[in-house]
This record gives sequence, C-alpha cells and structure tokens, in this order.
Amino acid sequence: MKFVAVSDTHIVPKGQPSRGLDTAERLRLALADLAENHSDAEFCVMCGDLADHGDPAAYDHFAEIIDGFPIPLKIMIGNHDHRENFRTAFPRMPVDGNGFVQSVHVSEHGHFIFCDSYEAGRVDGRMCERRLAWLDDRLTDAGRAGVGACVFFHHPPYRTGGRIDALRLTDHAAVGEVLSAHDHVRHIFAGHTHRIASGTWRGIPFATFGATHYNNGLPLVGPAGHLRRFVSPAYSTVVLVDDEQIVVHANEFLNDNPEVDAAHFDHEKIDALIAAGGDISAIRDTAAG
Ligand SMILES: [Fe+2]
Ligand SMILES: [Fe+2]
Repeated sequence: MKFVAVSDTHIVPKGQPSRGLDTAERLRLALADLAENHSDAEFCVMCGDLADHGDPAAYDHFAEIIDGFPIPLKIMIGNHDHRENFRTAFPRMPVDGNGFVQSVHVSEHGHFIFCDSYEAGRVDGRMCERRLAWLDDRLTDAGRAGVGACVFFHHPPYRTGGRIDALRLTDHAAVGEVLSAHDHVRHIFAGHTHRIASGTWRGIPFATFGATHYNNGLPLVGPAGHLRRFVSPAYSTVVLVDDEQIVVHANEFLNDNPEVDAAHFDHEKIDALIAAGGDISAIRDTAAG
C-alpha cells in the first residue's frame, strides 16, 4: 500500500505571509501534485503545525485549501496549532476518549497510529500518561490483530543533532518504554524539524518528514549560531508499505532545480537493461549496444 504525508504547512489567515512565504500556495501545490500523481494512496497524513498560530481564521483558510482533496486525510496537530480551535474548525476529525487529536487507521498492511503531542503553552512535545496509555492500548490492538504498527508524532522522540533537540518530545523516555514493550512497531514518523532525516532510535526505524513551509539546511547550526532556512525545495512524502519493507520517498514538489538533459541518457538501452534484469550482455547484443 501507499500513503502520502504533508507536514508543517503553517497556514496563516488569507492574504498574510508566514516568514515571508505564501504557505497557502505551497500547500496547494503539494496537494495538487499528490492528487495528480498519488491518488492511489490509502491516506494522506498531515503531521501537525497545520496553522502558524492556531487561530480560527487560519483553520478556516486551511479548511478551504484541503476541501475536495481526493485522498482521505488523517490530521494531526503540532506546537503551532491550538487544540480547541482545531476541534471547533474540524468537529468531524476523530479524537480519543479524552479529547486528544489521536486516531488509528486500520489497514490490510498494519495499523497506523497518529498521536497528539501538542501541549498548550509549549514548543516541545508532551505525551502525558493518558496519551501514553492510549498509545499502549492501540499498540496492543495491533499486536492482537497480528499486524505491524507505524506510529506518528508531530514532535520526534529522537534527537536529530541540532538545537531543535531541546524542543523534541520531552517525554521521549516514557514513549520509548511504551514502544519497546511491543515488538511489532515497524516505524516512527514525525514532523516538526522542517528537515528530512532518517535513522533508528532504540532499534526502531524513523523518518522525519520535510515541510511544505521552509526547510532547514546544513550545518544544523549556521555560522551565526542560527539555522539556515531555505525557500526550496519543499517536500511532501510518499511511503510504500508491504509486509517485507517500508520505503520513504521525499517528494520535492517545489523544485526549481534544472533537470539533467534527457539526451544524456540512452533510454532504449536502459529499457533493455531493465527488461534483462541487469544483465549487461543483453544490451551488448542490441543495436543500441
Ligand atoms: Fe513547523
Ligand atoms: Fe513544530
């Protein structure tokens, strides 16, 4: 199965920029690209920081932009959001029994668990006891169903090497204990850092989604002691899941890099090589070879 992801959209009320960027237009371009090229995705997760300041006017704007998007949406909130304003704007979005914006997508290829790490008045993320208990129960559900689970947070529980590590999921140790208690956790996904990274944490693979807003460059701390933030490319993410593997593709929907001239590649030869499964003798014998 395929799912797609969009993260850190930072929508502001109509007509306003966010950090000098038109975040509404960037989200529109991301969604148009996904609708055109990935409409076979089972769901699209929006991994938090939907709005820049969590205000009702921004959520109205966000609702207008996502209206009519053909892929089923799973919406999470981040530190820039506001849980009550979000719930007022999107009353049909699922929440858990305690009102946290947490839900599960049950798929033939496993359970996809979307967590709410928003904590009012904080930039770092929190998973309180009630949220952790919910996560533990959902992982138990997946275990009983005999399938794997992918777990999504806005705030990564792992460190990515920059100053933002101070603003990650503060309850990372408790989160790690819950995840480690289940042997069927296949992958962690997160947003928040506006920078693509992947690795393992406590033996669990993770990937951080790039943002549709600006993305941070390297070095993680620039010469002036601050992050370097870039207008492009911006990213959505395409993830392919089957019982054997999970593959995460960064999708540079906003990419102003020039393409390498197609004339530099002999496509007839490449097609023949692929048809032969990589056997070079197959293209030596063709006219193209
Ligand atoms: Fe963000
Ligand atoms: Fe964030």
